[in-house]
Amino acid sequence: MPRTREQLPPEFFTAPEGNDLHGSNARLRATGCPVHAINYPVGGEGYVVADYATVLKAFSDPRLSKRVDNAPAWFRDLVKDSSPVLVRNMLTADPPEHTRLRKLVSRAFVPRRMELLRPRIQEITDELIDALPEQGEVNLMEFAFSLPMRVICEFLGVPVADRPQLHTWGNRLSGAPYPDAESNEKLKDASENIERYLLDLLADRRAHLGDDLVSILVRAADEEDRFTNDELVSTLVLLIIAGHKTTANLIGSGTHALLTHPDQLELLRDRPELADLAVEEFLRFESPVYRGTLRVAAEDMELGGCPIPKESFVHLLMGSANRDPDAFEDPDGLDITRTANRHLAFGQGPHFCVGAPLSRVEGRIAFTTLLRRLPGLRLAVPAAGVEWLFDNSTSRGLVKLPVTYDARLAADARPSADTSRDR
Ligand code: HEM
Repeated sequence: MPRTREQLPPEFFTAPEGNDLHGSNARLRATGCPVHAINYPVGGEGYVVADYATVLKAFSDPRLSKRVDNAPAWFRDLVKDSSPVLVRNMLTADPPEHTRLRKLVSRAFVPRRMELLRPRIQEITDELIDALPEQGEVNLMEFAFSLPMRVICEFLGVPVADRPQLHTWGNRLSGAPYPDAESNEKLKDASENIERYLLDLLADRRAHLGDDLVSILVRAADEEDRFTNDELVSTLVLLIIAGHKTTANLIGSGTHALLTHPDQLELLRDRPELADLAVEEFLRFESPVYRGTLRVAAEDMELGGCPIPKESFVHLLMGSANRDPDAFEDPDGLDITRTANRHLAFGQGPHFCVGAPLSRVEGRIAFTTLLRRLPGLRLAVPAAGVEWLFDNSTSRGLVKLPVTYDARLAADARPSADTSRDR
């Protein structure tokens, strides 16, 4: 097969050809060349990596730096001016800082600890479903966002009333930086506001230490001198942003995948014990973080046979790797019984997602509870009528997910005959 490099348009991320992300990725992979240049209008070079094997290798390539200091000066200055709270955490660090910043947080998120949260996550899920109308149409993205936001805020000990504000700031920050000055001014406001908010929260927590995650981090910072205050604030910002939009997209896109594959929907209804495998398949099929976060070539290098000059941005397309036919059988098919599913939805290597155990528990509970308590759950619009969000961020999700159902069962109700099967 010829290895043809494509020169991709600057709007490659925000407006893929025909608004069809998977079609556009498939075309890239079919060129036989794993790495393609993006025609960035401003200074600096950008590349995307589309195949599984090269993305996997790149995740652990130490020449691809996560530090904004290695990016071109215009970008570094823009980020540091508009959103300094974003660049003092593990996601924007290389070893040895990365190791130090990650260690304590990753210990707090181990699967054993996350399993302990299961009863509380189930309760929150049931409360949110209790608040839905008994029948009718709802936008399920509201549920999808509320669940992980409530969980992460409770884990951090953030007051309920403050959550909508954090959601708004988090959304603004997750697209940083923006191509236009007006958006970057709003970004700066969000950065300053969230910093002020979290500094107050830290001061309050120092005065009243508890067993929430903020208290755990504060103790380590103060007793072991492990974090500066700036690093603490930036780590909390990362946990808030990474902790809810991603899982919201897993729940929203996973539900959409099920509702558009009736055989898989029926299978999961019949066999809820498949939820663990189903969550992995949803993560592969519609990866909530469809491309990696900032990576910059720290030196002139070669990747997948393509020369990449120092200071180039390198975007790893996990959403494409996860549908690579060289890595997965029938990659465009949804199969919730798929085993050996080595998807890259949580990344790989040193920056592998710290929150993976938490989002897996949340996803398993969300899907099984939705199917059990909302018999007849189905799309309220034609399958092609849902709108995917294409924004500046690395996340992939639906703008809205209009669904309807026949009844809302009580939290302790056992499912009776399922009406949806007759449809
Ligand atoms: C379905 C849900 C989630 C997905 C798909 C996801 C995906 C990812 C990915 C792809 C990365 C690596 C990015 C890169 O290397 O460029 C990452 C890193 C990270 N994620 Fe998640 N994430 C999810 C949920 C969460 C949750 C719930 C939390 C915490 C509450 C979290 C916290 C983090 C942190 C702290 C990092 C940085 C790790 C590091 O730099 O060492 N994530 N996530």
